[in-house]
Amino acid sequence: MSSASKAAIAEALSEARERTFALIEPLDDAQLNTVYSPILSPLAWDLGHIANFEELWLVQTIGGREPLHGELGRFYDAIENPRRIRDELPILRDEELRSYMADVRERTLDVLDGVEIGPDAEDPLLRDGFVYEMLLAHELQHNETMLQLLQLVDGYELPPQFATERSSSRIAGTSASGALETVAIGAGVHEIGAPAHGFAYDNERPRHVVELAAFEIDRTPVTNGAYLAYMEETGAVPPLYWQRDCDHWIDTARGRRAPIDPTDPVLHVSWEQADGFTRRAGKRLPTEFEWEVARPRLDGVGYGWEWTSSDFLAYPGFRAFPYRDYSEVFFGDSYKVLRGGSWATHTRVARPSFRNWDLPQRNQIFSAFRCARDA
Ligand SMILES: [Fe+2]
Repeated sequence: MSSASKAAIAEALSEARERTFALIEPLDDAQLNTVYSPILSPLAWDLGHIANFEELWLVQTIGGREPLHGELGRFYDAIENPRRIRDELPILRDEELRSYMADVRERTLDVLDGVEIGPDAEDPLLRDGFVYEMLLAHELQHNETMLQLLQLVDGYELPPQFATERSSSRIAGTSASGALETVAIGAGVHEIGAPAHGFAYDNERPRHVVELAAFEIDRTPVTNGAYLAYMEETGAVPPLYWQRDCDHWIDTARGRRAPIDPTDPVLHVSWEQADGFTRRAGKRLPTEFEWEVARPRLDGVGYGWEWTSSDFLAYPGFRAFPYRDYSEVFFGDSYKVLRGGSWATHTRVARPSFRNWDLPQRNQIFSAFRCARDA
């Protein structure tokens, strides 16, 4: 790979880091160390983990160098250390944490300078810069996890670029006439998954053909207004952060008391909540394949991750790469797939084949949904 491409990698790494720092800029060290939820890490853990993952892959694995802090890496292993115990670990904090992040980055750039990256690179990690794309995606995905936690911080103001991303991804959920439009997709065979070239995670490959029966899918996600009507009819549980205030509901994320816009897509609903809504409407959630096939004709993609009816399973011919713990350990019927992306998702992450997954009862993620049905 040319030095120009290496410069592009270095610049993208630096942009991702600026994004990370912009998120924590309004916070003090005490807030970075606070446990706000048993299902989310204190931000200090996320920051150390971002740097440690970088050190592991770009400095130790690619550069063959020794770790800066000996055994520290095991406290940042996401599988070994469930979120509820992360605050009890001897992780780096405050000034020590900041200088670790800077030291790792300096070494990363030094290693990058000396490696050969290109389409013919022998090491599949280096081929087409795979490992650098992976690291960038990792940091940007952690930015979204951090934003999940930041919804719990009273008085937290979104930094300007995130506030812009949020409002520009918002789309009114109903058409001008107020009628819910659907898209009809005929029966057929479709290619699913990421193409063989270009960056993608192992769970998006191999690209393969699936046969789908005819189906219909809503052109837009379910709105706050529609969800509110469903709650009133059935007594269903509200989305996370909604609170009743006299005779109406308000959004209390980040400690605000904001009015709920009935035309925005509903956010912070669990798979169970979404599934309940679709059944009541005489419909169902789309499968992840239906979602991927219909995506080019759908509005409102990118405001909230959209739940699908699909379990998180391996595609036929799946091969774990570069490590088993990214996808393979999560395959099975415990997790449901979400597609698309949310206002908090960086465009580099939100490709059409990207598969997100979470437990069906979770709604701390920026999750939305739309309805489908058999044609
Ligand atoms: Fe991670």
